[in-house]
Amino acid sequence: MSTLLPFDDASARRIARTYTTPDIVGQREHTLAALDLAPGERVLDVGTGPGQLLAAIADRVGPDGLAHGVDPSPAMAAMARQRCADRPGVTVTDGGVDGPGSLPDGPFDVVVSTQVLEYVADIPAALAEIHRVLRPGGRVLLLDTDWDSVVWQVRDRERHARVLTAWEAHLVDPRLPRTLGPALRAAGFDAVRVDVVPLLNTAYARDTYSAGIAEMIAAFVPGRDGLTRADADAWLADVRDRDDYFFSLNRYAFRAVRP
Ligand SMILES: C[S@@+](CC[C@H](N)C(=O)[O-])C[C@H]1O[C@@H](n2cnc3c(N)ncnc32)[C@H](O)[C@@H]1O
Repeated sequence: MSTLLPFDDASARRIARTYTTPDIVGQREHTLAALDLAPGERVLDVGTGPGQLLAAIADRVGPDGLAHGVDPSPAMAAMARQRCADRPGVTVTDGGVDGPGSLPDGPFDVVVSTQVLEYVADIPAALAEIHRVLRPGGRVLLLDTDWDSVVWQVRDRERHARVLTAWEAHLVDPRLPRTLGPALRAAGFDAVRVDVVPLLNTAYARDTYSAGIAEMIAAFVPGRDGLTRADADAWLADVRDRDDYFFSLNRYAFRAVRP
């Protein structure tokens, strides 16, 4: 059984759908406001995924700028290429942030990576590589989830805890944000700042982040930690089929500068 979430065609389509919900549109607006991009800037989006953020970056930096997306998943990179096909100044290449030399050389004015580093095994190496490809004075924005921040109304709390523990295997570090500040400073970045980006759903609706992630969790956990398909279905019904629906989760957006 694979441990990490496979970013194949099926999961790329699922993720792309979730990323059109007002919740994640709002998260992208937060990211774009924090990036404060200017026309002509050169931006690298690491782990660009379905490319919605990359397209918005391209619109802000304009034809004189550069929006370069990289992603190791062929399904994700293909989606990003297709989404940005009619935008000048957009490049999407296969690859990711791993060891030295894994990213395009740049230099870039800005590197952004949202919901990606939590899937990466060697964070110091990834941050060193991001530092390498930024110009002096260049900015970085990293956004990741802390899965300890999830609040979900359920009847069966014991099963819920087992399901969320099994779900943690979908990434490398489900609690990355609490160590990212010190890691950025250790990698040589200055002016490290962090904002919390909360997601909140108080009603179950298909067009929400939590509806999408609940389906992904229910698809991922059977066969892990003794959970069956029936357990996953019962958990899904528990979170979904209720009048007092409540979900919230925190993401954390770190900004820093290469001196
Ligand atoms: C949850 S998606 C986020 C996509 C996009 N950044 C966004 O927020 O819309 C995670 C993405 O990270 C990519 N990824 C996984 N490991 C990576 C690595 N080592 N370097 C770069 N991207 C990676 C996956 O292929 C996937 O597209």
